Amino acid sequence: MKSSFRAPSNIALVKYWGKYGVQLPSNPSVSFTLDACATETTLELTEAAGISVVLDGVDTPSFVPKVAQFVERIADRHPWILRYGLRVNTHNTFPHSSGIASSASGMSALALCVVDLAAKLGHEVADPRQEASVLARLGSGSACRSVYGGLVVWGETPSVDRSSQDFGVPYADAVHEVFRTYRDTVALVDVGQKAVSSTAGHQLMEAHPFREQRFAQAHGHLAALKPILAAGDLDAFMELVELEALTLHGLMMSSQPSYILMRPNTLHIIEAIRAYRRESGVPISFTLDAGANVHILYPAAFEQTARSFVEDQVKPWCKDGRTIADRVGQGPVSLQQ
Ligand code: PMV
Repeated sequence: MKSSFRAPSNIALVKYWGKYGVQLPSNPSVSFTLDACATETTLELTEAAGISVVLDGVDTPSFVPKVAQFVERIADRHPWILRYGLRVNTHNTFPHSSGIASSASGMSALALCVVDLAAKLGHEVADPRQEASVLARLGSGSACRSVYGGLVVWGETPSVDRSSQDFGVPYADAVHEVFRTYRDTVALVDVGQKAVSSTAGHQLMEAHPFREQRFAQAHGHLAALKPILAAGDLDAFMELVELEALTLHGLMMSSQPSYILMRPNTLHIIEAIRAYRRESGVPISFTLDAGANVHILYPAAFEQTARSFVEDQVKPWCKDGRTIADRVGQGPVSLQQ
């Protein structure tokens, strides 16, 4: 018996940074679900015990511990899974060595397969998408936002109804048309392994001198985004999203020990974006995840202009001139024939 899903990655606008318990967020976050950057996974239940992982057609034992930890964490909710061996066949649509984390899309795809198999085996699942979000969260926090399309909130906060610590929820308040088709061109600055993992970064928030202010700020930013998203207020959107990105990296730089994930070319690109916006008035902005790459965000209507800007002023700073053109997507799809 098997199940197959394609699940996209996501990029946070208000960042989750800091966690407690079993993958519970210290502050609320909201993200755009992406489209092109995705993982396609088939999960097969086998009679023979054991876990095997095939990545891009190649047996990859180094991924087995990650899947084993995931199974361990979800076993309370899905004890049936322990009766089977698991064969995972997975493929990322973005280049393996792009420095783009595949954990959000990968864990989301795997979680969707588990919930689908639970249903096929006759186990009752009241809200399959919500359950997949819980399981994805147990695999990798931000993955819980990848089970829905569009804007997704994770973490309980007073300004978002039904928001939860346990799972992501589709953002249900008014959203201006412009944000439904927003573009994200990812500038690949550093395609290697990160010097400090997200897991270590979350841990450093535990004793961070600015933790309480940061967590309060994130709640404030979720609330502030509400009228911005409803009105399509691009200036306010860009200001808030860039502040979030720089705050995330500011938290890294002010952790003990301190560290820096931006590279010189990250700053060159940020400078180019801000200068171009100032001079042209084109609403191009940036965000960053926990790495050196720059996500360049802009409305679909500015696609042509943004593309030539990227070509002329961003690619020279990218590793081998590489970028990935992505956009806000509709969320995961079943790949079942
Ligand atoms: O889900 P994790 O543990 O890889 O943490 C992701 C954290 C950020 O990408 C920096 C922010 C976020 O909300 O996705």
